[in-house]
Amino acid sequence: MLHPISLLFLLLLSPHFTAPLVLSRASFLKAFVTIAITPYDNYAPTYDILDDNIASNQLKFLGLSEGRSKLLSNSYGSVLEICAGTGINLPYYPKNKLKSLTMLDISPNMLKLAEDRVESFPCADVRFDVADVTNENYLLKKCGEQAFDTVVDTFSLCVLNTNTIKTLTLVKRLVKPDGKILLFENSRSDNELVGSYQDLTAKAIAKKGGGGKGCVYNQRVEDLIKEAGLVVESRTDYGGGLFRAFVCIRGGE
Ligand SMILES: C[S@@+](CC[C@H](N)C(=O)[O-])C[C@H]1O[C@@H](n2cnc3c(N)ncnc32)[C@H](O)[C@@H]1O
Repeated sequence: MLHPISLLFLLLLSPHFTAPLVLSRASFLKAFVTIAITPYDNYAPTYDILDDNIASNQLKFLGLSEGRSKLLSNSYGSVLEICAGTGINLPYYPKNKLKSLTMLDISPNMLKLAEDRVESFPCADVRFDVADVTNENYLLKKCGEQAFDTVVDTFSLCVLNTNTIKTLTLVKRLVKPDGKILLFENSRSDNELVGSYQDLTAKAIAKKGGGGKGCVYNQRVEDLIKEAGLVVESRTDYGGGLFRAFVCIRGGE
């Protein structure tokens, strides 16, 4: 159990906080003059430096990279990764267990970077789909019900925010009855001091210019997972519960 002060320290070190500090002046200028297709199209050029390198190198003690690896070791067969971003997860998939991998994201610029990570592809059949994961009609028409053995999401439910339950309900329809749903997410801490701090700051940080890239980081994510009708098989906490990895199954209707 981490001391509350350590947790607050971790909060301040989180990628969402450091983003505005380390963005170069050029990036800021570019952000002002670029007409965004989606907010993440603008974040794409710096996303890996801030959210992958910081998490995996400078903040190694949080164990987020190991967390991704451990969680994704549960993936197999035909896999759908929603909100796949720049493909940070690609190196962590178990190579001999995947038949196909579909990577979906609303941002063409983020997904383009994933396409470039060819050497990290875990299987021969890797597909990319620029699409809105909340577009139920599109996804059910394109993929069909119960199409995937595994559905993965990492660190995006906080961005989907008010669409979290809608998205997880759709995920439940897309996964096979005996399939797995693997989630690694920001979460409200169970520690009341830290959780209250998150509650106070979450909206401002998620707002444009707040440095959080739209991520509302105080979601009680396990409650939302259960509300969507999924069953949590296991949960692993990182950073004193600020980050949580879940292995889930569909559960009943
Ligand atoms: C915080 S990033 C997470 C990226 C990656 N999963 C990771 O672990 O680093 C959130 C991603 O969700 C994508 N996204 C946001 N809203 C979306 C939507 N409605 N449909 C599909 N992708 C979406 C963004 O473009 C972005 O790539």
